[in-house]
Amino acid sequence: MRVAIIGTGYVGLTTGVCLGFLGHSVSCLDTDESKVKALRAGRIPIFEPNLEELLEEATPNLNFTGNYAEAIPGAEVVFIAVGTPPTPSGAPNLEYLSQAARCVGQHMNSEFTVVVNKSTVPIGSGNWVESLLRDAGEHRTDGSTPDFAVASNPEFLREGTALHDSLYPDRIVIGADEPRALEVLYTLYRPILDQTFTAPTYLPRPETAMAVPLLSTDLASAELIKYAANAFLALKISFINEIGLLAERVGANIAEVGRGIGLDSRIGPRFLSAGIGWGGSCFGKDTAALIATAGEYGLHLPIVEAARKVNTRQRDRVVEKLLQELKILKGRTIGLLGLAFKPNTDDLREAPAIEIAQKLIDRGVRVKAHDPIAQDRFDREHGAMGVHLCNSACEVAEGCDALVLVTEWNDYRDLEWELVAKKMRNPFVLDGRHALDREKLTRAGLRYMTIS
Ligand SMILES: NC(=O)c1ccc[n+]([C@@H]2O[C@H](COP(=O)([O-])OP(=O)(O)OC[C@H]3O[C@@H](n4cnc5c(N)ncnc54)[C@H](O)[C@@H]3O)[C@@H](O)[C@H]2O)c1
Repeated sequence: MRVAIIGTGYVGLTTGVCLGFLGHSVSCLDTDESKVKALRAGRIPIFEPNLEELLEEATPNLNFTGNYAEAIPGAEVVFIAVGTPPTPSGAPNLEYLSQAARCVGQHMNSEFTVVVNKSTVPIGSGNWVESLLRDAGEHRTDGSTPDFAVASNPEFLREGTALHDSLYPDRIVIGADEPRALEVLYTLYRPILDQTFTAPTYLPRPETAMAVPLLSTDLASAELIKYAANAFLALKISFINEIGLLAERVGANIAEVGRGIGLDSRIGPRFLSAGIGWGGSCFGKDTAALIATAGEYGLHLPIVEAARKVNTRQRDRVVEKLLQELKILKGRTIGLLGLAFKPNTDDLREAPAIEIAQKLIDRGVRVKAHDPIAQDRFDREHGAMGVHLCNSACEVAEGCDALVLVTEWNDYRDLEWELVAKKMRNPFVLDGRHALDREKLTRAGLRYMTIS
């Protein structure tokens, strides 16, 4: 099928490459000229494991452009995957979505086109996009009338495992009020739904992915599913962090408590690891947007609000723990291991490291940091903060009064801890992710503490 993807960020590029790999003819469009130029030259502007290999395989079916007139006419499916960043009120900024919808509306031809909201958009956006497309269609110079339907197809991929999540998703959700739209998207996704494609060697099919459930529903329900899913995952993390606070007081081991809870099949083990809390471009933004939407209907969502408050408190607990250990922070040197909001991505949006670094700098701390992948991006986007970036974890440790594990990159699990201990002024490690081996670190002569 002929597909256009608007926005070549983490979601749009992954979707485009996967659909191209499955044999669809895909035009990926972005208004950021530097991204288009890089992609045309085979360079990927983000870090995502295996994306380079899959892009290479999909290349014969991919076209990168900045021109709507090139990408839209003749496309049977147009995915809108532009950013919907938060505004100070909590409601998402829909400027990019409206710009994209208007441009798509101006360039659709008279063949039936399904325009799909893949961006995470507030409830009611399907109807809104439809009206934007219709208005734009009316102002076309060639006088033709576009035939289109709007669908919602929320994205559930996780950065770091985005390709795996796209090829072997837990489910595909499609919201559409027009049956023709559902039919088109069913055809598009059929190789994934039936798992009929040959799996790439570097992304083997998991045994459980024999057939992928399709949930077809109305527009509003699909839109709410995305927000509700993210809110639920966020509150699961905040729940274990809240229990962690109590565990610490009563002398219980929160890692064991999390395991004990998670073995209950009704609860499940994932997202039950205590620590410095969530970050990233989705949970904060989407919980805020959900609360803002509820507010428009005169409703409060106290559970979601509490999840956000607990998450904020976890960041403060890092400073509290450091104060507990070091007594005075002013004039200290503290090292952060990891900057990305989670391992296997270079994404720094709402990364806990940024917030923690700023809190420490505000207290007169000299902050050093390392990240195996996100360091260059950090330098470009947050260089002005004054964090001293180092080439290795050992270099960070040099002269430090404390090290904080912020992102649980695998590289940090097997550091030469004896060497790290020797380099530190005060051999103390605060493990913000319950990821390090307490015994190993203690044997190496480090004092070890977790956030729980
Ligand atoms: N990143 C994730 O893990 C994830 C997961 C699920 C859902 N989502 C949602 O998907 C959407 C996209 O997220 P992302 O992380 O890929 O964002 P991103 O910022 O990485 O990418 C957005 C891209 O859209 C481009 N763009 C903006 N306006 C445009 C326009 N008018 N026309 C063409 N291109 C335009 C930007 O240049 C950018 O390259 C958001 O709504 C997000 O909430 C993200």
